[in-house]
Amino acid sequence: MLLGFDDYEMQSRNLAGALKIPCQIIQRHRFPDGECKLTLPANLPEHVIICFSLNQPNEKLVELLLAAKTARELGAKTLTLVAPYLCYMRQDKAFQPGESISQQIVGNFLADLFDNVITVDPHLHRIQYLEQAIPATHAVSLSATTLMAEFLREHFKDPVLLGPDCESEQWVSAVAKPNQWTYGVCEKIRTGDKKVEITLPEINLHGRSIVLVDDIVSSGHTLSVAIEKCLLKNAKHVDVLVTHALFANDAKEYLIQAGVRNIWSTDSVSHESNVLPLHSLFKDAVLNLPNFFTVG
Ligand code: R5P
Repeated sequence: MLLGFDDYEMQSRNLAGALKIPCQIIQRHRFPDGECKLTLPANLPEHVIICFSLNQPNEKLVELLLAAKTARELGAKTLTLVAPYLCYMRQDKAFQPGESISQQIVGNFLADLFDNVITVDPHLHRIQYLEQAIPATHAVSLSATTLMAEFLREHFKDPVLLGPDCESEQWVSAVAKPNQWTYGVCEKIRTGDKKVEITLPEINLHGRSIVLVDDIVSSGHTLSVAIEKCLLKNAKHVDVLVTHALFANDAKEYLIQAGVRNIWSTDSVSHESNVLPLHSLFKDAVLNLPNFFTVG
């Protein structure tokens, strides 16, 4: 059985449909003081998949704790988390003495609750493998870049693909290479949550169609600065394609003001820019889990 939450219901139902398993939505009651109560189906099978995208994560991590512990109480022996957006992966070291290394802490929290964790394009920068962050039995890191490459092939003949910072090299190169398109990576210096400086790579952008490819749009500052810089170099137009459309606060407005043409994303986080559904990717990953059909 797959259990979902109402803010990710359509995608959860699509995944359950692809796997040909039942889907139930976990009921949430929010008390006046902010605490919550969850209600799961009283009878659970031995393998339960919880599909929960962990954007806006602070409340969701408590809900996930309640859901996973309750599912175990109700008989689930194997628990799989499908978290299309995996939170807290960017803080992967203490940049200043005393800072929490959220990636490790949240990774261990998830590994304690779940046997399997599946996600797409997690922000792994200083480590290579998801299991280094999430020591679960199976930690599966998928990528949306093949879907992105196919999508862009339908829309462009010869675009220039740019990643806005060095971390994005892994995604922009994976999208550009199969299509043999020109790509480059910008240099980014972040001096605050909402302050970034970007230097474009040495590629002639004059009259070219540019697609900025990144894993996450959060405050929107990285991409909006990159868009402005490309247009200053006389790019024909600039589109944006990201895996995780977090779009905090006015992020979309920043991109529009900067002059973006199209904003596209996968459906890892529900947003109006979603054009790439991920359920087929997750279906294959679930079916490939060595413990998918085993229990205990
Ligand atoms: C960081 O390196 C990520 O890949 C994104 O570039 C970043 O999270 C985007 O953040 P924002 O939209 O707040 O600039």
